[in-house]
Order: sequence, then structure tokens, then C-alpha cells
Amino acid sequence: MIPQSFIQELLNRVDIVDVVERYLPLKKAGANYQACCPFHSEKTPSFTVSPSKQFYHCFGCGAHGSAIGFLMEYSGLPYPEAIEELARHTGMTVPREDFTPEMAQRRQQAASLTDVMLRAANHYRKQLKSSPRAVDYLKGRGLSGEVAARFGIGYAPEGWQALRDAFDDYEAPSLNECGLVIDADASDGQSKGRRYDRFRDRIMFPILDARGNVIGFGGRVLDQGEPKYLNSPETPLFSKGRELYGLTQARTFIRDDGFVLVVEGYMDVVALAQFGVGNAVATLGTATTPEHIHKLFRQTDRIVFCFDGDRAGRKAAWRALESALSELTDGRSASFLFLPTEHDPDSYVREHGADTFRQQALSAQPLSEYLLHELASRCDTRSAEGRAQFVTEVKPLVTQVPAGALRTQLLHLFAPAVGLSAAELAEACGLRLARRSQFAQRPPAVAPRTAPSTPARKLLCMLLQRPALSERIGHLEDIQDDPWLQAVQAVADCIENGDIETGNVAALTEYFRDTPHQAVIEEAARSALGDMADEGALPHEFDDTLLHLRKARISGAITRLTELSRTSRLTAAQQEELNRLLREKAGT
Ligand code: UTP
Ligand code: MN
Repeated sequence: MIPQSFIQELLNRVDIVDVVERYLPLKKAGANYQACCPFHSEKTPSFTVSPSKQFYHCFGCGAHGSAIGFLMEYSGLPYPEAIEELARHTGMTVPREDFTPEMAQRRQQAASLTDVMLRAANHYRKQLKSSPRAVDYLKGRGLSGEVAARFGIGYAPEGWQALRDAFDDYEAPSLNECGLVIDADASDGQSKGRRYDRFRDRIMFPILDARGNVIGFGGRVLDQGEPKYLNSPETPLFSKGRELYGLTQARTFIRDDGFVLVVEGYMDVVALAQFGVGNAVATLGTATTPEHIHKLFRQTDRIVFCFDGDRAGRKAAWRALESALSELTDGRSASFLFLPTEHDPDSYVREHGADTFRQQALSAQPLSEYLLHELASRCDTRSAEGRAQFVTEVKPLVTQVPAGALRTQLLHLFAPAVGLSAAELAEACGLRLARRSQFAQRPPAVAPRTAPSTPARKLLCMLLQRPALSERIGHLEDIQDDPWLQAVQAVADCIENGDIETGNVAALTEYFRDTPHQAVIEEAARSALGDMADEGALPHEFDDTLLHLRKARISGAITRLTELSRTSRLTAAQQEELNRLLREKAGT
């Protein structure tokens, strides 16, 4: 675990405005800063960053959090890595001694593997420069030196142990752990010398993670040979089903263009980039997984899949569709562009240019249409049997789409094809169709600013808005059934104990991450941020709410005791308690 004190110290030192500004241009708006929200698509900015609270909040989609949370959401980094990243920018080092031995080991291993991969990537790049044959190959494929450099393209020379030139210790286990070498079967006890380079005489494409670390390679043969592309195996750093080639380089283009293009090949990504279509990424010789889609939808609301027009491309498209369905919440879209059979994106953009390609991408077939078309071609909907077949096939697909506008539209679109009403089709799929009237009255995209409903909840919201108010709280009684009040007490205690120094909402939400109070605190933090108005009246309102809660507690207790006295005699202690409460009530 990373010690809480370090996280608090870190949050003390970073300014969320600087952190966000590294990724998004912010505009000053009163005491806060604003931008168009990076987490959903919008035209007018509702993404707000508060320097005093060190928190961000989007009024449109409800996204919110601290600087750490922002990095996690924006770059897709896991929690500890987001902390690392922030620390790195601040010149702080995340303390290691608090890690459990195996975590420390895993971390150290990952760090050393990353070093190994970087060293290998540098080596391959250098080798490219001294291999006229490799350079000619790339030139022959029309790649500019500039784009080759941008993607860090290199060359693994011929020879079974060429990596000896790059590593002092060619026998180090880490070389095998990160998939650069292959250890031949050592069962005869002769392990030495039986190790050889995985990549030989291949053009090397480094694969980067969100932080720009090299985590894997794809290597292409120069001439004929099998396999055409050789990829890194699964390693502690690299997992094909999660990673996408070119995402790091494409990130800003994806934001600017408002969509991401998913293609099949390394060369497609690089060629598109060279021609000015920078928003393309590629899967790594695998089908598109739900994890890929999830990752991409964190960057943009719109995915355009571009597959080759051949049979393999059609199959890949279908797999992508299946992976995308469950991620298609309202506001997100996926569409499919099929190139003529003789083309892939690389050859297409070279022949027709970037503008035509982009136009094609933007008018790609929407997922709904593609799905309808595909199913209709599989089932002969002129016959009752074929229509029944269609229903059978569509059911497991449409049920994966989250309830919402798109699912409703899909049902309406497919129903005529099978001679049913939309409601009947919905029923056949085990779904309920949202009524059209309801649908028309869907709440606007901007989340309603729900006023905190109960006094306890309100108290927590105000406390998060101004943590210094905690000194007015003291000790709250009878809070065991109320998670809001428990959280209020916990916040007050941690401030009073000096567990955290800066009482701002960001520091507090991080402090209570992974504790039983996390959910209510996050919820209240969101309302606290949503309600940035009228800070002057806050202390007064806070006192009123506290008083109200206290009165309510006393009245409740008095009622309970008097009810009890109707059915049985109160014990001396109970009578004493009742008197005390009555005195207290008179005093408030
Ligand atoms: P393609 O065979 O369509 O090649 O493979 P390509 O991308 O057009 O490559 P060039 O233009 O001939 O250089 C598409 C993708 O499938 C994966 C790679 O990720 C490749 O980019 N693949 C292909 C493999 O992993 N291994 C292979 O042997 C072939
Ligand atoms: Mn190609």
C-alpha cells in the first residue's frame, strides 16, 4: 500500500489545474476553470475545475474527482500508477517500504522489465540506421523518416543472439520474462548458449502503454516468411487483449477529431498517421475485445472500425460488434467502414488521400444498420422459419445493449424485418420496451442538480465543501444507522486528529478511498461540487442543520421512551434518561 500520508502530501503539492491543463486547455471562469468535458462529447463547456477544492466536476455527465482520479479516468492508469505519475511530475518518490514484499517485487520486476524493453527499443532503432536493407524496405513501403521516428520503428538484425550487443548480461532472466529471447528446452542440463533472440531480421514496431513505456513489439519480416508479423508473447507488461497499437500517439488526435479509428494492422496506423489521419489505433493480431472497447470509450464517444473488405475483415468486424454491444450506453456510437476487397487502410489512404479516407470514415455504416444487414443476410426473412431464426439470433445481441435510447431504436428497427411490432420483439427478447412517451420525456443530458435531500446528507455536503466547519461538530450521538452521519463523524475525526492537513474535498475523498465511507463521501463530494454557490451562508446553514439534527435526535429518543412507558414501567435508568432528554430539549 502507498501510505496515506504520502498521498495527502502529494495532493498538497500538486495543483489540479496544472494537472488537467497538461491534457486540456482550461479557461478561467470566476474562481474556477472550465473546459469541454473530455469524458463525454459536448459543445459548451460544463467541465469545471475548482482550485480551492482541488476537485473537478462535470455538470453534464457527472464525472468528478481529484487530480489522481482525473489521471485514472483520462489516461486509464490504475490507482497506484496514477499516483506514481503525479509524483514523478512533482519530483516526489513514492515510498517503497510500505509495499508488501511481493508487491515491491512485482513493482521492481515491472520497472526492470520496462528498462529492458526500452533498451531493446533503442537498440532496434539504432540498428535500423545501420541497415540499408531495412531502410530501403521502409522507403519502399512509402514511409517517411519522420513518421518512422514518431513511432520509434526499428530493426532487429539477423543472427541468433544479436541482442548480446545491447545487453551486458544476455543470460539475464528478465530478457526472457519480457519476451525478447526464447530459451530452448534445457532439459539436457545444458542451458547455457541455448537462448536465442525472438525477433530476427524483422522491422520492429514498439508497442507503448499509456505512459509511453515500451511494453511489447510487433516484428514484420522484410521479405516473404512466416509468420508475417511476430508479436511479443503475453508478459507481465504486455497483454494483447488489452493493448492497442498507436493509442499513445493517437490520443490527442482522437480528442481533436472526435472519434477513434480502429484498424487491423501496424502499417495501417503508421501510414494513416503519415498522411495526416492521426486518430487510428490497431488491435494486435487479435479480435477486438470488450476491454479494448472500454479503453477506447474512455477517450471518445465514437468508434469507427475500419476493416479490410475480405472475409477475414468481415469476421473481425463481427467480433468487434459483439464486443461493443455491452458498452453502447446512450451517447456512444460504433460504426463500420468496409474498404473495397483489394484495399487495406494503408493502400487506400495512399491511393485516395486523407480527405477521402476521412469522409469514408465519417459516413461509415452505423452498428444498427450493419447488424440488421448481417442478420438479414443470414436468415431468409421471407419464411416464417427464417424470421424465427432472426429473432433467435438477435436476442443474445440486443440484450447486451444497455437499456436506453439505442436499444429501443434497435428493437424498432428490427421488428419490421421479422413482421413483429417492436413491443412483441422486445418481449421475445425478454425485454421491456420503453414507452415512446417516456422516451420523449427523457431527462436532458445535463444531470439535474439534485438538492441534498436529508439534513444528514446536507451536513456532509457542506462539510466537504468547507472542511474547516468540522470544528463545530464535536461528538455526534446515535449515528449507527446513518451512513451520512457516520461519514460526517469520520471526516471530523480525521481532521481533528490531524490525519490530513489540507481539508479540501480532494484530499478527503482520497483519504476515504477504499473505506466504508467511500460511497457516501463521493456522492456528497459530487453534490458539494455541483453546488458551488453561496459560500458565505455556509457556516450559518451548517449550524442550523446541526441543530436540526440534534433536535430530531432528542425528539426521537423522547418519543421512543414515552411510547415504552405506555406499555411497561420504565426502569430508573430509563426514567433518568427521559428527564435528561426533556431538559436538553427545553435547552435547545
Ligand atoms: P495483415 O496480414 O492484414 O497485414 O495483418 P498488414 O497489416 O496489411 O501488413 P502489411 O501491410 O503486409 O505489412 C494485419 C495485422 O494482423 C496481425 C498484425 O497485427 C498485422 O498488423 N498479424 C498478421 C499477426 O499478428 N501475425 C501475422 O502473421 C499476420
Ligand atoms: Mn497492409
